[in-house]
Amino acid sequence: MVRQVIRQVQKAKKPEDFVMDFTDKVIVITGGARGIGKAIAEELAKAGAIVNIADRDRLQGKQTAKEICQNNGKANFFYADISSKESVEQLFAEVMANSGRIDILVNNAGIHNACPVMEISLDEWNANMDVNLKGVFLCTQEALKYMMPNQKGIIVNIASGAGLRGISTSAAYSASKAGVIAFSQAVADEVKHYGIRINVICPGPVKTGMLESIMGLPHDRPETAFLNDATNFMDPKEIVGAVIFLASDLSGSMNAQVIVMRNTNRW
Ligand code: NAI
Repeated sequence: MVRQVIRQVQKAKKPEDFVMDFTDKVIVITGGARGIGKAIAEELAKAGAIVNIADRDRLQGKQTAKEICQNNGKANFFYADISSKESVEQLFAEVMANSGRIDILVNNAGIHNACPVMEISLDEWNANMDVNLKGVFLCTQEALKYMMPNQKGIIVNIASGAGLRGISTSAAYSASKAGVIAFSQAVADEVKHYGIRINVICPGPVKTGMLESIMGLPHDRPETAFLNDATNFMDPKEIVGAVIFLASDLSGSMNAQVIVMRNTNRW
């Protein structure tokens, strides 16, 4: 295995040339319709996985699955609102009916409603918690239902740098992502006895629709000054390498760990 990987690294010219073998692994990626989730879905499909995109954006989700299939990948789209228990139960039941098992879950879907703390409405606070934190809880619990009897499974959770150090005008988002980190570590310790690993990735700013939605905010505070410098932004594809690593046996001894991905020390 190590020799095979070294050979792949030697042949790889760019990070996106690095492909590991995920042949017929059944993967659920929440929020896989666009942004970071789409990049993860595309690369895992290239590596042979059966990619199940779960998203509440039907149009974009179907389009992403179609593009992957047109490029000879295996992809399905499932409508899901991860903040709803019923919807999450239905999602995992449908994936199981379709593929018979779930090898890997990537909890990626998230929202970011940026505004100063005094302007956060209760609805906005709840929306951040419902999608970013409760959604991870619901999907994890549902995936574990299928993984635990198999004594096998991998979960990768996309939190955020904001979960390690809260950022200005993002109090609800930061709190929800800190919750994702603590939740992941707690559950990872519980389920390691079942051969299941859970690790977390905390990206810094990544060029996606989500980042665009906070670009309109004032950038005159030290905490948000990074938004003025486009060289601080990563491409969604740059997050994929860490996901592939954590979703593969290469990280077999890693559990309850947090990988921080950013190209600046400032955030
Ligand atoms: P995005 O906004 O481009 O994509 C998010 C996807 O999640 C969309 O397809 C959306 O429809 C889906 N989604 C949202 N709520 C959902 C729900 N209730 N049920 C099902 N699907 C839902 O966002 P991006 O940037 O790709 O973010 C992906 C993850 O990475 C999020 O968890 C985000 O918090 C995290 N992240 C993003 C960073 C960035 O700078 N873009 C930085 C750090 C973390």
